[in-house]
Amino acid sequence: MNTTTHLLYLGTAICFVLGLHLMNSPATARRGNQLSAFGMAVAIVLTVVVLIDDGIITATAAVVLAVGAAAGAGAGLVAARRVKMTAMPQLVSLFNAVGGGAAALIAFADALPESVDQPVSTTLTIFLDVLIGAVTFSGSLIAAGKLAGVVPGRPLTFAGARPLNLLLALTALVAGILYTTGVGGLGTLGLLTGAALVVGVLMTLPIGGADMPVVISLLNACTGTAVAMAGFVIGSTPLIIAGALVGAAGGILTKLMAVAMNRSLLNIIAGGFGTGDEQGSPAVAATGTVRTVTADDAALQLAYAGKVVIVPGYGLAAAQAQHEVVELAQALTSHGVDVSYGIHPVAGRMPGHMNVLLAEANAPYPQLKDLDEINPQFAATDVVLVVGANDVTNPAARRPGNAVSGMPILDVDKARSVIVVKRSLGHGYAGIDNELYTNPRTAMLFGDAKVALTSLVNELKAYVR
Ligand code: TAP
Repeated sequence: MNTTTHLLYLGTAICFVLGLHLMNSPATARRGNQLSAFGMAVAIVLTVVVLIDDGIITATAAVVLAVGAAAGAGAGLVAARRVKMTAMPQLVSLFNAVGGGAAALIAFADALPESVDQPVSTTLTIFLDVLIGAVTFSGSLIAAGKLAGVVPGRPLTFAGARPLNLLLALTALVAGILYTTGVGGLGTLGLLTGAALVVGVLMTLPIGGADMPVVISLLNACTGTAVAMAGFVIGSTPLIIAGALVGAAGGILTKLMAVAMNRSLLNIIAGGFGTGDEQGSPAVAATGTVRTVTADDAALQLAYAGKVVIVPGYGLAAAQAQHEVVELAQALTSHGVDVSYGIHPVAGRMPGHMNVLLAEANAPYPQLKDLDEINPQFAATDVVLVVGANDVTNPAARRPGNAVSGMPILDVDKARSVIVVKRSLGHGYAGIDNELYTNPRTAMLFGDAKVALTSLVNELKAYVR
């Protein structure tokens, strides 16, 4: 049984690794997800079989496990099926919170029989598990609240917040060391938990502007690390492997996001969290005339262009206009226009948001170009069609002193002509004016993205066969 169990656990780990690898490309991502989910299902069933086989599970515990698993799986299934694409980031953040909280609870359960003498290797992992799990739990709840608009999205801070956070972090550290070395007991672990929970809140509240993606990704990495620690606490190989994979993948994503947002990782971990430039910085006032265009004129420009780049943003997701934009791109492509999509790494509200949307509408993958690939092409582009994107195109990012300073942007203003589809001159996530809208090469096509794109597709029929 032991060898078979280990081999089967190894099989589940292979599923996780291969699943993650398949997620490298949108074409295979769905299969990757299914393979990882299959591996996890096998790991869960196997764990239950091992528990029954070892005879270490009581009838009451079996009922509690079954009810807990059914309730958790049911809630997860309903939430995942009902969630709107636009609310996905807050759901991911809630899942992070649940993961971190569950990992911390596992450590607590192991620490509970206080009479049992635990080796330092166990008390150390309990300490790290509770610390990371509790920070992730409260931090992710605040992040989810901010994304859902329940907690104000702007940076929330107060005088003395940083010293207080430092003091609490030190308290958690000292309590952890006392617990690890056996000097402190359950009370010390409680103190550590309380301090870590408040640190999570105080660390996430000051985040605002455009820095949220980095923090969500960082919290995701923390969830994975906490789960891996929980695996060490209870000696569970699948937990260690799955947690380490999430931790490592989240860590790499955090680094990529930080580069995309032009924030140093050290600055984020040390508590910078993007409270630098944007705090109190004045909004960039848009001066100059704003030109508008009708759907008919915009369709004419697109039909007679040689090269068109479509830049999707959060507004495309909000309007659920992915099918319309792909329909427009297909009509142009079949008319002989060279069409590609310029995808900014933080466009939308979660990593890969635009890729997921466009994949849902079956946009051809080779047409999806990332920032580095598309930026050199804008100078040779006839028309850029910006659909519901704002911050990721704001030229203000090229100067210091505002909420998007230093963020690499899509250089759409270098194209011969730019058409922006959005409902108004309203701000994006960072809350500042976009100078692109007063650029003489830019014309605004005001309206909901779905409605405007449908009109564009209809008007285009007059020019393309
Ligand atoms: P934003 O800068 O947020 O701008 C989106 C624009 O969409 C808004 O200005 C809005 O203008 C427009 N819009 C909203 N609903 C629309 C609709 N139904 N039809 C047409 N337009 C609509 O989006 P972005 O350029 O994608 O940039 C993303 C921002 O979010 C960045 O600042 C990024 O840092 C931040 N962020 C990203 C993530 C990740 S991981 N991607 C996570 C959290 C935050 P109107 O109101 O005028 O229509």
